[in-house]
Amino acid sequence: MRILVFGVTGFIGGKVVELLKERGEEVFGVARSQKLDVPVKTFVANVLDKVSVEKAINECKPEAILFAVGERYPKGRIGEDYLALMQSSRVEGTRNVLECIKEMPSKPLFVCLSGALVYKREQVYKGEISLPLNTEKDPIDDSTWFGQTVLKWEAVVTEYGNKFDIDYTIARMGSVYGWGGIWKELFFERIAKRKRVFVPGNARFTTSLIHIEDAASALVHFLTNPSTGEVYNVVDDEPVVFKKFIEHACELFGAPKPLYIPLLVLKPFLGAGYKLVAPAFSISQAVSNEKLKKLGFELKYPSYKEGLKQIFEKVS
Ligand SMILES: NC(=O)c1ccc[n+]([C@@H]2O[C@H](COP(=O)([O-])OP(=O)(O)OC[C@H]3O[C@@H](n4cnc5c(N)ncnc54)[C@H](OP(=O)(O)O)[C@@H]3O)[C@@H](O)[C@H]2O)c1
Repeated sequence: MRILVFGVTGFIGGKVVELLKERGEEVFGVARSQKLDVPVKTFVANVLDKVSVEKAINECKPEAILFAVGERYPKGRIGEDYLALMQSSRVEGTRNVLECIKEMPSKPLFVCLSGALVYKREQVYKGEISLPLNTEKDPIDDSTWFGQTVLKWEAVVTEYGNKFDIDYTIARMGSVYGWGGIWKELFFERIAKRKRVFVPGNARFTTSLIHIEDAASALVHFLTNPSTGEVYNVVDDEPVVFKKFIEHACELFGAPKPLYIPLLVLKPFLGAGYKLVAPAFSISQAVSNEKLKKLGFELKYPSYKEGLKQIFEKVS
């Protein structure tokens, strides 16, 4: 199967490419500049430039497309303009890809990433969350920047999917952790060197995680098994209080306990990024993977304990 991965240089896109290649699929990538360290033929396109997107898709003629793109969160302070760019690379980037797909005589399947840590709960939990877990049917909380982004992002996918008869799957990812991406940068690299990490807030919130290998396997499943407009939470079996998770990682590696920095202390250093970081490090979310599991999907790392062990073994 010919599969085109947007975001081939990213944490998730890169892992999906690896798994697709192992399966023997014909894989291609899209990156903003020609990359030599990417293991597949790569087309150059910026998702905010529709002409370059069209050129990449028309040259590749894929049977399936993965959209694993989003402007990265840089270290330190950001302005409103950068926050807007983070949103438009997701929302308008997706629109540009779908604008091109809708014109194709044989429309490829479209798999789009989205976020799972955005559900509205009856009350805002600041600690251990109580059941029930949120399912795909629950409403999204539009009071946070990420919730608003997810709503706009998914609205584009469903609009084009329904109007132009494009098969699509939306994958609502929990927090994707592993030896790579922002997790490695912020936490695991230091923990592996037995150095102290700094955590925004008091970490007494619940979150739903997914190990990168399981995240990528789920996406491979969606790319190779078309659905017509389904939404799936991609999370593991065990929502966990973040403090428990990060301290378990420190213990495994023999690193000191993290230093927790009050969010209000960080506020002046984050600028507009506070709108993203504060909810992500304080609002509890506990998400169900029941629908994903009904597909027969089996998790290699059902909880953070197995996932962190894999990272520990890989690094050691
Ligand atoms: N990781 C998670 O926990 C998580 C959870 C939920 C949702 N998601 C979403 O999943 C997507 C991928 O996540 P990730 O963790 O793999 O992110 P990542 O490692 O930061 O990768 C982002 C990818 O997007 C590319 N990109 C950014 N802006 C672009 C543009 N204008 N045109 C073309 N490519 C562009 C980047 O290319 P460059 O190399 O050129 O920067 C990179 O390949 C993001 O939208 C993210 O919000 C992630």
